[in-house]
Amino acid sequence: MVEVVTELAKRLNGIAIISSDLQESDLQGADLESITAYITNFFKDEKSPKILNRDILEQIMQTRIQEAIIHEPVIQKPRVTPPAPSNFSIRSLEVKKTGAKAADFAEYFNNRLERLKAMIIAGRNVKFAEVVKDIDSIKQYMNGRELGIIGMVYDKITTKNGHILATIEDATGTAKILFLKPSKESSKEQIQLFSEADKLLVDEVVGVRGRISAPFIMANTLIRPDIPIKQRKRTEEDMSIAFMSDVHAGSKLFLEKQFRNFLKWINLSTSYKQDIAEKIKYIVVGGDLVDGIGVYPNQESELTIESIYRQYNFLFELFSEIPENIEVFMLPGNHDAMQRAEPQPQLAEEFLKEMKFKNIHMISNPGYVTLDGIKVLSYHGTSLDSVIHGIKGLSYSKPEGAMLEVLKRRHLSPVYGHNPIVPSSTDQMIMDQVPDILHMGHLHKNGSADYHGTLIVNSGTWQARTSYQIKLGHMPTPAVLPVYNTKTMELYNVDFNLIND
Ligand SMILES: [Fe+2]
Repeated sequence: MVEVVTELAKRLNGIAIISSDLQESDLQGADLESITAYITNFFKDEKSPKILNRDILEQIMQTRIQEAIIHEPVIQKPRVTPPAPSNFSIRSLEVKKTGAKAADFAEYFNNRLERLKAMIIAGRNVKFAEVVKDIDSIKQYMNGRELGIIGMVYDKITTKNGHILATIEDATGTAKILFLKPSKESSKEQIQLFSEADKLLVDEVVGVRGRISAPFIMANTLIRPDIPIKQRKRTEEDMSIAFMSDVHAGSKLFLEKQFRNFLKWINLSTSYKQDIAEKIKYIVVGGDLVDGIGVYPNQESELTIESIYRQYNFLFELFSEIPENIEVFMLPGNHDAMQRAEPQPQLAEEFLKEMKFKNIHMISNPGYVTLDGIKVLSYHGTSLDSVIHGIKGLSYSKPEGAMLEVLKRRHLSPVYGHNPIVPSSTDQMIMDQVPDILHMGHLHKNGSADYHGTLIVNSGTWQARTSYQIKLGHMPTPAVLPVYNTKTMELYNVDFNLIND
């Protein structure tokens, strides 16, 4: 049994037995305290045996969404300890378009390669840098010569014998790199190398060290740009940052009752987890602010608000109830009213007419905000689909897994072409700064992890399960708000589906 399931089993002792088909991923991002309460409530009239399996859990999750209690209008209450004045800076990415000619794309890819190459070399790889050669120059060397190359993955196949054969490209040519399938005699390092090679994504930039065995290079090391290992940054002040995404205001499935529960909570108008609410100083909203218009065929039938302007007006009406001393940062996503290609600029002024609040700030997608010294990189996460499809073992139920792979590659959208990127002479999807927190949404599933001292957070959604998600078997975690205390470094998942107040 795994950790979260074990913890739930402990809490349900004497109430229910957990079936073996229940996986850790089914409980990913769940607020265990509330889940325990729902399950206890669900089984209260049942005669034994009470067994909690996947189907019953799914039923409970759906019921809790439908049963959410709507509260009285929000009354703002003053905070017991007012937070110190906010201290933040925003770095929105500039969207500089170039043409769409072959030369423009060549310039874009060259910029991606050169900057990630510099990161690979600047990493911990001084010795590696000494052996790096241009691919074109390799042909002058004899078999057996050890050398390194840095390039972009052109393709990757598995050979008949189960080895991985990758084609790597730099500005001078292409090289065939062979990663041998581990045998019983293989060392831990060889097994690890093969496993990392198996995760190679088309268009990612990697360094390879190996020995020439014409026409191949037999790889012995694979190096990604990666982020350095560091201590997690914390603040002196006892404060928190809340993360939210995929509000989808205007959708029939937008969970307005739950959102109003959140508004009541953040105004300290409920006793529910007030100790967490009163420390919130910043909120970052990671895209899909509204459901949009014409995002997919026949979307009209799934909307409660069919005007894009009114969708934004409704969104800002809701956010106007957030206390003024909480700074809110919002970026767009693939459902918002603008170009799909990333980076996406800040939401246009024409949608902000009803938005007259000084504490709400629009940023680009992706965008950086530094909050009392904590650097947050927020990106909607549109590329996570292609990362999950490209790497075996990743899934929609664990968004943090795909986000971690993105961090290792120092590139927010490593696979080119699945989700559009603005052709630009500078690849702005490269993570040129190492964030203290990497925040994304898009998958509608909460998840978190620590990687090399960077906190990874996916903030789920405020939209109920869509018919599309039912078709794909995706189970979202709606109305669960991750709140990170930057002093204690604790992350809470606050569930707004039911407040028994
Ligand atoms: Fe979304």
